[in-house]
Amino acid sequence: MLSVTGVTGGYGDLRVLWDVEATVRPGRITVVLGRNGAGKTSLLSAVAGLLPTVSGGRIELDGQDLAGAPAHRRVRAGLALVQENKRVFRARTVEENLLLGGYTLGGFGLRGGARRAALEQAYERFPVLRQRRRALAGSLSGGQQQMLAIGQALMPGPKLLMLDEPSAGLAPSIVNEVLAMVAALRDQEGLSILLVEQRIEHALEIADDVAVMENGRIITAGPKSVFDDGAVIREVYLGRSGEELTTGNQ
Ligand SMILES: Nc1ncnc2c1ncn2[C@@H]1O[C@H](COP(=O)(O)OP(=O)(O)O)[C@@H](O)[C@H]1O
Ligand SMILES: [Mg+2]
Repeated sequence: MLSVTGVTGGYGDLRVLWDVEATVRPGRITVVLGRNGAGKTSLLSAVAGLLPTVSGGRIELDGQDLAGAPAHRRVRAGLALVQENKRVFRARTVEENLLLGGYTLGGFGLRGGARRAALEQAYERFPVLRQRRRALAGSLSGGQQQMLAIGQALMPGPKLLMLDEPSAGLAPSIVNEVLAMVAALRDQEGLSILLVEQRIEHALEIADDVAVMENGRIITAGPKSVFDDGAVIREVYLGRSGEELTTGNQ
């Protein structure tokens, strides 16, 4: 479904991704783990066409190479991104926020029947948003705001959804709810998902595939079933250089 190979890039002269490879299988969830600053957000930005500098590599969605394409063309090809700490427009209604999701397509966005159909699908997916459709987004709970942000990203009907730490800033009791919602998008709609998450144990529960990043590189990747959860967690924290780190040799 998604295949990223040999992607190097960053911010101007500062390189933060080095020869990165990642895959998402159709209808599966790949979880990307790694400490702060490992390059997880930059990877999602590179796939979405939002990283300032990308030199080389391929970003293929269903066999179509999107490297170099502008962000709105990637949306048209079926990619969607919910950015980290993405805030909905709090002073706009729930429905206005959903409709804004159509504009990531560029141009005039979703129109007419396609717009109505996407809105209806969003309400079927998340019935609480229908109940609250005239409410200001700022009046929703944190979990509902994340639901709204996801609903907004799904308006153009993507094949692949990328989520950057959807549980960030939410109360621990809500984390399971948000990740169950992500798993339901896979299980009920067959969406392919690239998920960056700090709550490692929660994320591993819904993962099909796992990738661990360190210093802008993927250091481990593969089906979740071949890894021991504890080993993955240790690797995230200690990385490949774990031995040197524990002996203080950095
Ligand atoms: N806008 C930016 N300009 C310059 N450097 C950045 C910018 N955003 C992130 N970085 C740097 O890129 C590296 C990777 O960051 P990021 O992708 O945000 O990691 P993660 O999401 O894993 O925490 C870090 O060293 C970070 O300081
Ligand atoms: Mg990040």
